[in-house]
Amino acid sequence: MNLRHQTILITGGTSGLGYEFAVQLLALGNTVLLTGRDPGRLAQVQQQLPGVHTFQSDVSDLAAIARLYEQVTAQFPKLSVLINNAGQMRKLDLQADVQLLPDLTLELDVNLAGPMHMVQQFLPHLLRQPAAAILNVTSGLALTPYPLAPVYSASKAGLRAYTKTLRVQLHETKVQVFELVAPAAKTPLSDTFAGDVSEKDLMAPRPLIAQTIKAMQANQWEVYPGMAAMMRLLSRLAPGFLLRQLSKGVRESLARG
Ligand SMILES: NC(=O)c1ccc[n+]([C@@H]2O[C@H](COP(=O)([O-])OP(=O)(O)OC[C@H]3O[C@@H](n4cnc5c(N)ncnc54)[C@H](OP(=O)(O)O)[C@@H]3O)[C@@H](O)[C@H]2O)c1
Repeated sequence: MNLRHQTILITGGTSGLGYEFAVQLLALGNTVLLTGRDPGRLAQVQQQLPGVHTFQSDVSDLAAIARLYEQVTAQFPKLSVLINNAGQMRKLDLQADVQLLPDLTLELDVNLAGPMHMVQQFLPHLLRQPAAAILNVTSGLALTPYPLAPVYSASKAGLRAYTKTLRVQLHETKVQVFELVAPAAKTPLSDTFAGDVSEKDLMAPRPLIAQTIKAMQANQWEVYPGMAAMMRLLSRLAPGFLLRQLSKGVRESLARG
């Protein structure tokens, strides 16, 4: 995939991996559009990265996706790459958090249904481009679930399955389908797991995204940066061992809150 001089839409681009995608894709001469829900953070990113175009949009809101589509395709008809990056992750105690019932499926709505609706909305446009791509950001936790984050793990496993089916269905088209199986990385999302994940196990966003862009340029459909490669191997060779590792300290962590 050529990742120079493209028009690229990144969901959740105001921090973490999405922000780093914006920085590196801008440096390659692309037109970068990014979304987020918080107008203050969008304005801040607009100042930090004067080349980007920002849009307030929530991937779990169907009407917002339809509005985003109208705005983006009217202003940027050459849009050719969609990066489904926006995501949320919570620690959930399935025994105690009964008060969370109304938003129990939050991560499914944002991390799984969000990318599905984005693809469904933007796919006809992408199919009309001479060359196009979709990148879905999953996680090493799509390979083996993390018991502290049950709904998140389910959302990423679901997104991985969906991405594989999308790739098969679009095989004969000019839309290439990529998956970034991201390892634990140093971003605001992982900050909420600070007591559970050691700082030394967090990959820096810069090399993570640089490796992903390089892999996409080489048409490598699935990208496993850093520890994600090890998780891939272990999830095949010793899935029980990996789950036991990820299960350590779960009760204590849930008790801490
Ligand atoms: N960090 C890790 O350890 C790690 C590991 C594996 C996979 N990932 C995945 O990598 C992706 C990026 O995560 P990150 O670590 O960079 O997280 P982050 O720093 O918290 O950034 C998340 C971004 O998504 C936006 N966002 C959240 N909910 C949204 C929604 N409903 N609609 C639109 N935008 C939304 C946030 O902005 P607003 O809050 O203003 O909307 C923010 O820009 C996620 O899919 C995550 O699951 C992360």
